[in-house]
Amino acid sequence: MKEINDREKIIKLFMPFENDVFPLRNRFVRAAAWLGACSTEGRATPLFQSRLVETAAGGAAAVITEAAYVSPDGRALGRQWGLDSDAATAEVRRLSDAVHAAGSKLIVQLSHAGAAASYAAAAYSPSGGMFPGSDKDSLAMTQEDIRKVCSAFADAAERAKAGGADGVEIHAAHGCLFTQFMSPLFNKRNDEYGGALENRMRAMREVYAAVRRAAGDGFSVWLKLSMTEGAPGGYGPDEGIEAALAMLSCGVNVLEVSSGAAYSDPQHVPAVVGVSAGDSEAPFAGYAAAVKSKAPKSSLILLTGGLRSLPVIAALLEEGTADLFGICRPFIAEPDLINRWAEDDARPSACISCNACFRTAEEGVVDCPIMRSRQEGEWDPL
Ligand SMILES: Cc1cc2nc3c(=O)[nH]c(=O)nc-3n(C[C@H](O)[C@H](O)[C@H](O)COP(=O)(O)O)c2cc1C
Repeated sequence: MKEINDREKIIKLFMPFENDVFPLRNRFVRAAAWLGACSTEGRATPLFQSRLVETAAGGAAAVITEAAYVSPDGRALGRQWGLDSDAATAEVRRLSDAVHAAGSKLIVQLSHAGAAASYAAAAYSPSGGMFPGSDKDSLAMTQEDIRKVCSAFADAAERAKAGGADGVEIHAAHGCLFTQFMSPLFNKRNDEYGGALENRMRAMREVYAAVRRAAGDGFSVWLKLSMTEGAPGGYGPDEGIEAALAMLSCGVNVLEVSSGAAYSDPQHVPAVVGVSAGDSEAPFAGYAAAVKSKAPKSSLILLTGGLRSLPVIAALLEEGTADLFGICRPFIAEPDLINRWAEDDARPSACISCNACFRTAEEGVVDCPIMRSRQEGEWDPL
């Protein structure tokens, strides 16, 4: 990948991004990260809020929350945020006030885990069956079940809007319910929700339409999509790109390009292990470029995954690969990364993409153990 060291081009990343879709103070977005910081009942805590606000204060132009479940039967994780009740509206309000005060914008990510909903009494999926790694069966969804999920997304979007969020993001990546509908591995239906891509996309189109109806035309609706399932028998990039363009033509404002699911081949998982500044950086950039070249001008492309250094990100902007750049694990290591970069410390992210942060969630709140030991003087990745 071409790198740009030209200072002027790097500076463009930090300039206000004026546009008709979603103006932002710079090009950096904090990508969604489950933090394990909510209560076991799914309620936001002060720690949950402060962890999000620190990335806003650290310079990110927009902050995407973790995947909040829209209904209890869509819950995948422990201590995950729930937008399934009106109790969440006041939580969004506190969060959006604080994120706005830090000069950033708030996007609430909405999710249903389908067969991966391990915290639900009964899990639902397009055709029933087990999610890889799960020991629980799921029930095949009826068309009425699909309608109910769409309406749960719409209700959650209304709560996010009422709480002052600047937009919502429909999570259609990483193996969640809408990936399962897209997937020939999971989706064995023979009604209008299965078979050809157009049918496998139908649930995603319907949830978008329900969210748009509920939130109105002026509200920003984002969608995160895995551009390939990256697993034998799963859907590939051709279908991922076609689906992304179709969703943009439906009116999605910002399309977040991601890849794979936990069960994908290692190079296709969403959080690729071992990515570092330079050649291995930005593994999903090709997908973003393919979408961006045909995307309507009324939309933006957000590229997420393995972005670690200013020269590479500046080159991606210069080449027109994407409009916005999503960063996740580096913010877990350094919440103030963007301010550090803006203040002339252009060293790449300290994140070594080891995914130790995922494992910290088994014990408590997501954290970077590498950075912690570095701060304690035991290790210096820079
Ligand atoms: C601890 C952790 C939690 C995550 N939780 C979410 C999530 O809730 N929703 C989502 O769309 N992606 C989630 N992701 C994936 C990231 O948003 C991102 O797509 C991925 O980590 C690649 O970006 P990176 O290389 O900058 O980390 C999570 C990643 C990590 C490391």
